[in-house]
Amino acid sequence: MNTARFATAIALCAVFAGCGATSMPGDDAATGNDSAVVNDSAVANDSATGNDAAAADGAVTDPFAAPPGCTSGTMWTRGNRGSDDMNPGQACVACHNISRGAPRFSIAGTVYRTGHEPDNCNGGGSTGGAAMVEITDAMGQVLMLPVSNFSGNFASEIAITPPYRARVVVNGVARVMNSPQTNGDCNVCHTQAGTMGAPGRIALP
Ligand code: HEC
Ligand code: HEC
Repeated sequence: MNTARFATAIALCAVFAGCGATSMPGDDAATGNDSAVVNDSAVANDSATGNDAAAADGAVTDPFAAPPGCTSGTMWTRGNRGSDDMNPGQACVACHNISRGAPRFSIAGTVYRTGHEPDNCNGGGSTGGAAMVEITDAMGQVLMLPVSNFSGNFASEIAITPPYRARVVVNGVARVMNSPQTNGDCNVCHTQAGTMGAPGRIALP
C-alpha cells in the first residue's frame, strides 16, 4: 500500500519537479531529460543543417562566410572559344592582351553569388533583378556594365582614366569596393581565395 502510494508520489514528483524526497527518481527523470538533451544534440545536428541554411542565408548577408563551391553547379567547358560568357572567374584582360583576335578590355570580370567560387564556374544568378557593375573613373566618367546572369561576366572596351571606383548594383542595392583601383582586370585580385587584400570573388549585393 505504502509502496503503491510512494510510487504514486514518485509519479507525481516526476510530473511536478522539485519533490525533495524523490529527488533520486527525479534525477532519473533528469537523466531522461539528459537523453532528451541527446535528442537535442540530434536537434543540434538538425541545426547543423540549420547552419547550412544559415550559410545559405549568409549568402545574402555575408557571401564570404559561405563554404567554397560552385553555386550554379555549371561550368564553362569551351576553353578559349570567344564568348561573353567565356572563362568566368579567370583574369580576362591578362589573357586577352596576349591573345590574337581577343577584344582589348579596359574593365572585365565576373560576379558570383558567394565569395569563394572556382574558376570556370558560372556566376551570375541574381534573383533580385539585373546586376550591373558601376565603374566611376578618375574623370568622373561612369560606366554601367550589364552582368551576364548566366556566367556573371561583365566587360567594357571603353577607355577609362585610372584610378577608378567600382560597385555592384542590383535594384539600387550596392556592394562597394572601398579602395580605388588602377587595374581593370578585376579577377586578378578577385580570385577564389582572393589576392592582394581582396576578400575573394566579386559578390552580388
Ligand atoms: C585564357 C585566355 C582567355 C581568358 C582568361 C579570357 N578570354 Fe575571352 N577571349 C580569348 C580569346 C583567345 C578570344 C578570341 C577567341 C575567338 O576569336 O574565338 C576571346 C574572345 C572574347 C570575347 C569576344 C567574343 C566574340 O564573339 O568575338 C569576349 C566578349 C570575351 N572573350 C570575354 C571574356 C571575359 C569576360 C573573360 C573573363 C571573365 C575572358 N574573355 C577571359 C581568350 C581568353
Ligand atoms: C588590385 C586588386 C583589385 C582589383 C584589380 C579589383 N579589386 Fe575589388 N577589391 C580589392 C580589395 C583589396 C578589396 C577589399 C577592400 C575594399 O573594399 O577596397 C576589394 C573589394 C571589392 C568589393 C567589395 C567586396 C565586399 O566586401 O563585398 C567589390 C564589389 C569589388 N572589389 C569589385 C571590384 C570590381 C568590379 C573590380 C574590377 C572593375 C575590382 N574589384 C578590381 C582589390 C581589387
